[in-house]
Amino acid sequence: ELPPAFRTPLPVPRVLEPVSTSGTTDTYDITQLHAELEILPGLRTRAWTYGGTFPGPTIVSRSGRRTVVRHRNELDRPAVVHLHGGHTPAASDGYPTSLILPADGSYDARRVHQDMSGGSHGMSMDHGAMDLTEGTRAYTYPFDQRAATLWYHDHRMGYTGTAVWMGLAGFHLVHDDEEERLPLPRGDRDIPLMITDRSFAEDGSFQYPWLDSGLRTPGVRDAYMNGVLGDVVLVNGAPWPVLETERLRYRLRFLNGSNARLYKLELDPQPEGGGGFVQIGGDGGLLEAPRRHDSLEIAPAERFDVVVDFSRYRPGTRVRLLNRFGDGSTAQVMRFDVGSGHPRDDTRVPRKLSDVPRLDPGRASVVRDFHFRGSSAGWTINGREYEPGRALARPRLGQVEVWRFTTNFHHPVHVHLDHFQVVSRNNRGIGAYDHGWKDTVDLRPAEAVEVVTRFTDYTGAFMIHCHNLEHEDMAMMGDFVTE
Ligand code: C2O
Ligand code: CU
Repeated sequence: ELPPAFRTPLPVPRVLEPVSTSGTTDTYDITQLHAELEILPGLRTRAWTYGGTFPGPTIVSRSGRRTVVRHRNELDRPAVVHLHGGHTPAASDGYPTSLILPADGSYDARRVHQDMSGGSHGMSMDHGAMDLTEGTRAYTYPFDQRAATLWYHDHRMGYTGTAVWMGLAGFHLVHDDEEERLPLPRGDRDIPLMITDRSFAEDGSFQYPWLDSGLRTPGVRDAYMNGVLGDVVLVNGAPWPVLETERLRYRLRFLNGSNARLYKLELDPQPEGGGGFVQIGGDGGLLEAPRRHDSLEIAPAERFDVVVDFSRYRPGTRVRLLNRFGDGSTAQVMRFDVGSGHPRDDTRVPRKLSDVPRLDPGRASVVRDFHFRGSSAGWTINGREYEPGRALARPRLGQVEVWRFTTNFHHPVHVHLDHFQVVSRNNRGIGAYDHGWKDTVDLRPAEAVEVVTRFTDYTGAFMIHCHNLEHEDMAMMGDFVTE
């Protein structure tokens, strides 16, 4: 039986305090550990967490200042941390075989290898690609990048879907001067919203259709080959929560943190005249100019920063956030209960937000094709299942490149290291949700999407993969090596 909707107040993840701060660097500590959470009223859910909560604590960084996050692994399995959207050197990017082994010493290299290569979806790998640390690992983020909504999550080869489903995800926000000069809503009217779907067993535990509950074999049972969907929609870890708002503008940072579900978000009722979502940013930060939407289609890992002006509603209106792609319990997401006052709003959305230089696809020195293909024989990019250490491409730093993604199925495609700009969809113009700098682009069945990109600053091995986490775990991933 599902819990009732609109009973739980929206939780906002706490902002993590640094353990130390110097002229150049802020250092944070996070311990990964099991925690018993009350997600469904009256029931206990055992989760894998960053610091005891789901989502984990929000880290807030400043563009141009280094952030070091020291992760200690007190779980009973290896962990890898990736900062999604981070412009991060390879050594800190969370390569899927750069493992933090449990601090209690319960894992050794042999067991790691067995766990990765077992089962029908096991991936082959060479011991050389493995990089093991025991207990604690420090990730260094230079944040030589603009303000944006980023998130961090587990990225262990073969087990990302499991680990994220069990709770290993959190926000990491970056601020900069340009954005702070704008008169946008801030403080407690700037709210990150992580939308995830989950299924629960009778006793409240998370239900995930793993092949092997001992977690020695990656992958899910065949019925879940298209990705794992849940019937409970959580926002910031609470089922169908409610936020009481004043009749003011709010900045909402939507993140689809779901393993596989695609949402079409819509306000109900729409404010008079429509255009309830004023998009100001995407994966890679501010757009050039705001864009109004009646609805937002958001694929796994995508972010949309929007401003909603609740003064467009009559006092006391209850505004549901719907999911037009859902049905039954997944057709609604949360509710905003609009207050009755007439407070003064000193925020606004300027007509110009930022200068966004265009990368010119005509200047590309290389065009590369990445064909994402799923079949009962496996999930592949350019016909190959993932193999650590094998490069699908070797881009040169500083060079403009066009990357063309094609597919026979639905896949949200994600590229590490640098953001890209969408150039075309099916050889036509770009879609309503393709504007600005992005790191994840939704590829629908039989679509071809072209993006233009330029990798900068860091050489080494980075990932391109499907962000349907079950596809990723079933090897729809590849390395590219920047040189
Ligand atoms: Cu959000 Cu490579 O992942
Ligand atoms: Cu996929």
